[in-house]
Amino acid sequence: MEQRWKTIIEPFKIKVVEPLGFTTEDEREKILREACYNIFNIRAEHVLVDLLTDSGTSAMSAEQWAAVMRGDESYAGARSFFVFEGAIRRLTGYRHVLPVHQGRAAERILFGVTGGPGKTVISNSHFDTTRANAEAAGCAALDLPAPGATDFDVPGDFKGDIDLVALEEAIRRIGAANIPMIVMTVTNNSLGGQPVSMRNLRETARTAQHYKIPVIIDAARFAENAFFIKRRESGYAGRKVADIAAEMFSYGSGCMMSSKKDAFANIGGFLALNDPEWTRKAREILILGEGFTTYGGLAGRDLEAVARGLEEVLDEQYLTYRIRSVEYLAEGLRRAGVPIVEPPGGHAVYVNAKKFLPHIGPEGYPGQALVCELYRTAGIRAVEIGSLMFGRREGGRFVPAPMELVRLAIPRRVYTQSHIDFVVEVFGDIVKRKDAIGPMRLLEGSERLTHFTAKMMCGAA
Ligand code: F0G
Repeated sequence: MEQRWKTIIEPFKIKVVEPLGFTTEDEREKILREACYNIFNIRAEHVLVDLLTDSGTSAMSAEQWAAVMRGDESYAGARSFFVFEGAIRRLTGYRHVLPVHQGRAAERILFGVTGGPGKTVISNSHFDTTRANAEAAGCAALDLPAPGATDFDVPGDFKGDIDLVALEEAIRRIGAANIPMIVMTVTNNSLGGQPVSMRNLRETARTAQHYKIPVIIDAARFAENAFFIKRRESGYAGRKVADIAAEMFSYGSGCMMSSKKDAFANIGGFLALNDPEWTRKAREILILGEGFTTYGGLAGRDLEAVARGLEEVLDEQYLTYRIRSVEYLAEGLRRAGVPIVEPPGGHAVYVNAKKFLPHIGPEGYPGQALVCELYRTAGIRAVEIGSLMFGRREGGRFVPAPMELVRLAIPRRVYTQSHIDFVVEVFGDIVKRKDAIGPMRLLEGSERLTHFTAKMMCGAA
């Protein structure tokens, strides 16, 4: 786009549309009650603006749909697999490519190969399924976010980094032989969608190499991370995002990717590795649980959609719009007086519910109270990232999460500026009566990943 225009427009036009689900306030109150105040139990047709996740919710391009029609559905050796494999090899430089049905399958397989009791996986921050899969394989999962990552009011360029000092210290303490890998999650979803700098990736690789520990990249949002590096890290402004991504991948010896994010696919993922021995074992588990090595739980058409998506996501016109549209929401929320995690992330704005609703303590689930209020007020669906998701019970005692956030994730190429304006307007209304928002109470929920199954009600415990 020429420099003279300051409006950054959606870099696409719309050919297929889907109606939104309009409801009345009375209907929504009833829907919430019937869903036990758990927004995962609400039918999507009853949601007006769905900011639950950016995962699997992208609009595919005309070229992706055309590629879908080219899908080769052969059981073994499908042409679509080689298209998929070629796209991933070109992007990452890794030799062996294993398709999987989504990111968590790659996690399960990789930790199945490398995990076991007594081992510790270290990360800048594990995403919740990554942690759950590491633990299910018998490992401990250790997060070492950079200092300041949880100072939500203080902006920083690369708050997704790993703490290099703590990393070195942890390796010495735990012993390199007990650390099967270091997982670098780009961008860092659990801590606000914040990017990881190239410098941090490079230095992590240097430390890892010294101790002979493999670095694996959780690449769900690699392109957004690469674009932040271009924008924020010195020496990268003139580089192509594709080259920046290639350099990022060069600091790992493999990656896991949920293609439901930065590949614009509605399903899919992959594991890409250099190590032949890991690959051999991973393929065995792949065949056992996902499918034959050239489709891995996906249809040929899905492989085509991912391959095409991985190219499209590196379009800088798109990335400029993508990051700008998230910033635009953040600006609106700040103007309305809503405290957010600063700066906004690549795929989402995270509202600091602890600060927004200070009259509700963690045992009253302030994040979930705000999530319910957003739905009740205007049919907007968001997700709590706080004590409902990460809180625990230890011997009957409630241990809250370190943060109480509400994530407003923006699906890719789906909503327009007026949808975002609407969300900001709704927040403006909620701000005026926020002191009247009451606490929530947990009635029932499973031990792990509570938020998916929780039953709640309004009122103090
Ligand atoms: N890694 C990261 C960083 C993720 O954000 C996710 C999923 C996964 C791995 C797992 O991938 O869903 O394809 O199995 N994040 C979604 C979200 C669910 O809403 O943030 P998956």
